[in-house]
Amino acid sequence: MKKVKKAVIPVAGLGTRLLPATKTQPKEMLPIVDKPAVQYVVEEAITSGIESILFVTGRGKRAIEDYFDYSVELEQELENRGKEELLDEIKKVGNLVPVYYVRQKSPRGLGDAVYQAREFVGEEPFALILADDIFVTPSPLLGEIMELYRQKPAIYLTVTPVPPQDVSSWGVIKGEKVGEALYRVEDLVEKPEKDKAPSSLAIVGRYVLTPSIFEAIERTPPGRGGEIQLTDAIKALLGREEVYALELRGKHFGVGDKVGYLKANIAFALEREDIGEEIKAFLREILQGEDR
Ligand code: UTP
Repeated sequence: MKKVKKAVIPVAGLGTRLLPATKTQPKEMLPIVDKPAVQYVVEEAITSGIESILFVTGRGKRAIEDYFDYSVELEQELENRGKEELLDEIKKVGNLVPVYYVRQKSPRGLGDAVYQAREFVGEEPFALILADDIFVTPSPLLGEIMELYRQKPAIYLTVTPVPPQDVSSWGVIKGEKVGEALYRVEDLVEKPEKDKAPSSLAIVGRYVLTPSIFEAIERTPPGRGGEIQLTDAIKALLGREEVYALELRGKHFGVGDKVGYLKANIAFALEREDIGEEIKAFLREILQGEDR
């Protein structure tokens, strides 16, 4: 039976929700405390057992390629200054896992970005990871759906409930509950109107897909916002392939928008041994100031 060994991370989007910061910087490189968002998801991939990663990049995303390379001058300088700990940390980033790159020529949508991965993927199942979504879970969310795939090959999505007023910002599933946190997906809709949403279970950024997705993307016309939507392509596979959705048990930070990005920074900073106490005291101070 085939195991999920490859991951695709599309990073070719424009990141308009974080403008102007993203005018000259990929949003995936914006730090959550002191680590770029993309490193959190790469670490999750590796802990989950992923053996190689393809980034689907685009215009203005060179910083990501540089980040996962060796940085000879910086490493030399840190060595000269005796900064061993930082040196190890920096070297680790360049050695994480084999990383490959392909370009999406223009940001025509997530479906089109995934389509660029077809040669890397070949005939194997693969993981799709969106760096916009960062999770705090007892065990890596990607690892959980990879394990589900190992037990029963199918397409796996991940979902989390969102407030009814927010459903129109998400891809939403209609599903039949078949396990404690598992749904058999019967329908999917990208960004439904509030009163047309089939549920409040929103699709978040971890997937296990099969190569059949590429042919489905080829047949998918532009959908919402004129973009080739991955949700539409997965929907086209319903009936031919089994699709399941695992509900998140843990915390989700949507770091692709301002509020989610700031929340993640605060939450991760509070957990840090070196700065957590200072940040907590600071938050108390400003909140008490507001009460007055
Ligand atoms: P988003 O919907 O967050 O789009 O894409 P975006 O363009 O990055 O951000 P906003 O909405 O303008 O603020 C989800 C993921 O899919 C990638 C993005 O990089 C992000 O990781 N993506 C999206 C592509 O790689 N190509 C695309 O054409 C669209």
